[in-house]
Amino acid sequence: MFHYAILLYPSANRVYTDSSAALLRAELAVFGEALGATLEDIGERRLGGVTYVTFSTAERLSTDDVTLLSNLSALYALFELTGDLLRPVELSPLDRFGTDLLTIQKYSGKTNELFTKLLLNVTLLSTSDPTAFLIRPLHVLDPLCGRGTTLNQAMDYGLDSTGIELDKRDFEAYEHFIKTWLRTKRVKHTADSGQLRRNKTMLGRRLELGFGLTKEQYKAGEVRHITFYNCDTVAGAGLLKGGSVDVIVTDAPYGVQHGSHRTGELSRSPRDLLAAAVPAWVRTLRSGGALGMSWNTHVTKREEITEILTAAGLEVRELGDFAHRVDQAILRDLVVARKP
Ligand SMILES: C[S@@+](CC[C@H](N)C(=O)[O-])C[C@H]1O[C@@H](n2cnc3c(N)ncnc32)[C@H](O)[C@@H]1O
Repeated sequence: MFHYAILLYPSANRVYTDSSAALLRAELAVFGEALGATLEDIGERRLGGVTYVTFSTAERLSTDDVTLLSNLSALYALFELTGDLLRPVELSPLDRFGTDLLTIQKYSGKTNELFTKLLLNVTLLSTSDPTAFLIRPLHVLDPLCGRGTTLNQAMDYGLDSTGIELDKRDFEAYEHFIKTWLRTKRVKHTADSGQLRRNKTMLGRRLELGFGLTKEQYKAGEVRHITFYNCDTVAGAGLLKGGSVDVIVTDAPYGVQHGSHRTGELSRSPRDLLAAAVPAWVRTLRSGGALGMSWNTHVTKREEITEILTAAGLEVRELGDFAHRVDQAILRDLVVARKP
């Protein structure tokens, strides 16, 4: 047997308090389904006073397996474990632009960037082609995108993305941030913004960005896209072509800082918003695509969420336990479902 140990980002402990290792174990189990090797004995161990997430395999991990595992959200370093000795394994994460793309923006209501990466990962791995994101630019939709944490993570993975957000301040803040970031980092890009209209009706504003992962790729016409619609999520989803999205990843309003805007007042539960929006989102999803969503279990029960997803024609997956405390008012959980 071969034994491995994962060192977690020290910052993960601050984000998830005591749950960081448990969340990584649950995420690792989802990665395990897409690996050549079979993961056994996923657990935790303390070495030199530090907690590691550990697992074993019958064969040594292949290069492809290490390439995939390098993208685990809270993974800081991977070691092969012989007795108590740790031998570093060379990582090759997909990251194209570096973490400041995700960490610079700080605002109340931001979905933590490590959690956003986790949610995107388990959703990508739940599609009919779980490792496709490593080799081609899939299309990610965040239909409640706030100031774009999912869009930035998709960009860092070299994927295309679309975000929809009703709040004008969030749209303006994202536009300002991303344009400044692209200029400062000298990333070759185009940016176009203006009014968003459908059938002569003004829906809101739009931002369309095209950027290259490298100067050479940009010159060769290999351009990735970020589109941001500042409008209601149902209207925004209606602008997308049916079946054009590979994964939908979103953090639903918690009912605390963010209300569901559909009723015009702060609603404690996002259930009504989701019941109206999920069918519109699912239409945009390709067959074999997946939807991953997190929500606050204090205001909406898992059964209510799975009922909405199932009624929209999705198949909810049975995954490990991802529930974790965000603060006193928020106990967050996630659900992933696939479009048959
Ligand atoms: C939990 S926040 C998402 C935060 C985001 N992931 C981020 O990191 O910035 C949920 C978002 O849903 C938005 N929202 C609520 N109702 C909406 C609607 N009907 N259409 C579009 N966006 C809506 C809220 O304004 C809020 O920004």
